[in-house]
Amino acid sequence: MVITKICCLGAGYVGGPTCSVIALKCPNIRVTVVDKNEERIRQWNSDKLPIYEPGLDEVVKKCRGTNLFFTTDIVKSIEEAELIFISVNTPTKISGNGKGRAADLKHVENAARMIAEIAKGNKIVVEKSTVPVRAAQSIMKILKANVSPGINYQILSNPEFLSEGTAIADLLGADRVLIGGEESPEGQKAIKELCWVYEHWIPSERIITTNTWSSELSKLAANAFLAQRISSINSLSAVCEATGADVSEVARAIGRDSRIGHKFLEASVGFGGSCFQKDILNLVYICECLNLPEVAAYWQQVIDINEYQKSRFTKGIIESLFNTVSDKRIAIFGFAFKKNTGDTRESPAICVSKRLLEEGAYLQIYDPKVDAEQIDYELEGASKKYEIHTSAMLSAVNAHAIVICTEWDEFKELDYNVLYDVMMKPAYIFDGRKILNHEHLTNIGFQVKTIGKRLHNGESTGMWETC
Ligand code: NAD
Ligand code: UDX
Repeated sequence: MVITKICCLGAGYVGGPTCSVIALKCPNIRVTVVDKNEERIRQWNSDKLPIYEPGLDEVVKKCRGTNLFFTTDIVKSIEEAELIFISVNTPTKISGNGKGRAADLKHVENAARMIAEIAKGNKIVVEKSTVPVRAAQSIMKILKANVSPGINYQILSNPEFLSEGTAIADLLGADRVLIGGEESPEGQKAIKELCWVYEHWIPSERIITTNTWSSELSKLAANAFLAQRISSINSLSAVCEATGADVSEVARAIGRDSRIGHKFLEASVGFGGSCFQKDILNLVYICECLNLPEVAAYWQQVIDINEYQKSRFTKGIIESLFNTVSDKRIAIFGFAFKKNTGDTRESPAICVSKRLLEEGAYLQIYDPKVDAEQIDYELEGASKKYEIHTSAMLSAVNAHAIVICTEWDEFKELDYNVLYDVMMKPAYIFDGRKILNHEHLTNIGFQVKTIGKRLHNGESTGMWETC
């Protein structure tokens, strides 16, 4: 089979950018991205794409209408395609068995059922969503139970490793592409066909092929390892605050060991995003189901430390502001879970904001890429004592404190002399991302507190009082 038409079910943060890059690099393949959400498809076909991702606009503009299409016509797209990516969401279950931990596979199952119902010819079905180990078996069961005579399906696992904010660069220059499939000749043939698609721009030595279950588990493992590094350094940030060590210096020192490496050692207010927590919870659940409680407990700690870090940071803010934030104006700088994205899923800013609102604070929130509607959505159920601003400067007016929740570059460029003038005194800055020049801010007159380092601000010697 020569792949000439690809269909992707799910036009989200993964389906949209991944298929745009495939279309860009494979001009002879017609790539159709489908979604059941009409509004999302309308946005993909408009000038304002539904997600913000550096470089994405240019790629979409170049390919859209030529070999890249966004549509809600699921039937036609499935019928025509030889290869179908399943890129639908797999959130943590919110009810029933495994509530709060297991991945909810209802959208993957629906996608498989749609394919089974619509397909009239052979298909390679590629699981791109992050799923529990052996999910491909369930997809195969559904497809085989509903197969029309003469149709042959191959299921591949091809997890996605892109990070938001750098998705296009990650897709264009992927460290590796992972493809898992059956060891049968048909399975190996399907693997080769998907390899051929990626080989349009990824050197073949960077394409790893494995069995299906290894591929599925590797995705969960990669996210677990990355998040574990953040929780490890964040756990040490508490030790630094208690002892006078500086977590950035510790990260630099250990990162120089080539076996450890320097990436993903930035201590922070905690990790966010739609993947880390969800995927580790899923791994924990799988281990529990496999009767491996020690392994489950080990990975659960990565999540527990992240929760600890978010609440430790917020507790430190309240304590520093004389143990009460009631009716104090606090500027929240950044609401996205990291810079260069408008995504707020599991953003630490939500946790920090909700806690401060609970304590009676009045929040003045600013994020360059998150719109007001999204902030309202995330803060639903919390006190309405907040307003959303269109600039960092406006959000600082009359504030007792600035809290940096996202590491947007523009926060480094602000004129903090002016910000100091418009704020209440003493004016505090809580740098949850360690991005500012703390010495400069202290010289201006700010009381500065950051993660993993004691700063000497006038009468205060400690960061958070940890004991
Ligand atoms: P998303 O919520 O942004 O997008 C998923 C889309 O799928 C939604 O638009 C939804 O309407 C659509 N959908 C659901 N069921 C459908 C169906 N039956 N037919 C057509 N469309 C359907 O999710 P996402 O962030 O793109 O993540 C997708 C998957 O990729 C998840 O499993 C996630 O864990 C994984 N992943 C995400 C990232 C990331 O950075 N966001 C990175 C790697 C892997
Ligand atoms: C992650 C994985 O990196 C990616 O491979 C996978 O496909 C999806 O999940 P993403 O969540 O988009 O990507 O962003 P990432 O850069 O991993 O950051 C996740 C969170 O960790 C962010 O909140 C970020 O600010 C935080 N982080 C990251 C730290 O706190 N410290 C670090 O050193 C790195």
